[in-house]
Amino acid sequence: MRVGAPTEQEVGRWAGLLDTDETARAQRFVFPRHRNQYVAAHALTRKALGHAMGVDPAAWRWAAGEHGKPSALLSGAPAAVSFNLSHAEGVVGVAVLAHAGADVGFDIEPLDRVVDLAVADRYFRAEETAWLAGLPAGERPRGFMRLWTLKEAFIKATGEGLSRDLSSFWFETAPVRLHLGDGSPESAWHFEQRVLAGGFVAAAGARTLSGGTVPQVWTEIDPAAL
Ligand SMILES: CC(C)(COP(=O)(O)OP(=O)(O)OC[C@H]1O[C@@H](n2cnc3c(N)ncnc32)[C@H](O)[C@@H]1OP(=O)(O)O)[C@@H](O)C(=O)NCCC(=O)NCCS
Repeated sequence: MRVGAPTEQEVGRWAGLLDTDETARAQRFVFPRHRNQYVAAHALTRKALGHAMGVDPAAWRWAAGEHGKPSALLSGAPAAVSFNLSHAEGVVGVAVLAHAGADVGFDIEPLDRVVDLAVADRYFRAEETAWLAGLPAGERPRGFMRLWTLKEAFIKATGEGLSRDLSSFWFETAPVRLHLGDGSPESAWHFEQRVLAGGFVAAAGARTLSGGTVPQVWTEIDPAAL
């Protein structure tokens, strides 16, 4: 959902869905655009989870995992739904899977973000830097953002965040494919990537216990409709 310039009325409506912790956190943002982004992401998540589970969006509470990954609670108990949200300048999104405790990861970023390609040399896997180096120079920043969002989606899916060594796994982009290189089953993971209207790139992925593909449905939400 794009959140470039939400109206006061929209932000007020979204803020009304947040719990006291979220409200307190929202109030700590210095810049209104960051506060609006946070409020929008959390309202969107509440609505999406509410829609998936048929419950009141305001009913959700959150529990944080070891590295801070939130999971959903209903009436104090883990809910049968997994999610991961992401916010970036002007855009927010959430991936939702109607299974308890599933590893779901999502990342969204502006495609034209100013990037430091040296970051890839330093932190990415050799297979990824070789792919980047093979692109025409003008395409490399976008290639970097494609890898970045995929890698973020993976470390967010496992919940490890940046405690995970970014060179311990790598992605192929066409088709999207994760390589773990540690003998654990890669076929259990399914990632997709989209270049979205408005100049954003996003990646979403999940691990299924069955090893089957998780069909993904991507929807753009109109802020006025949230
Ligand atoms: C969580 C993390 C992985 C991603 O953060 P990010 O890209 O800055 O932010 P995003 O908007 O995509 O995601 C933030 C949301 O993820 C969720 N989150 C927090 N910790 C998480 C974790 N360990 N795992 C998964 N999700 C997490 C939260 O819902 C958070 O939003 P909230 O604070 O409003 O509730 C974080 O470790 C981080 O600091 N990343 C820095 C970016 C970076 O250097 N990435 C290199 C990738 S190539």
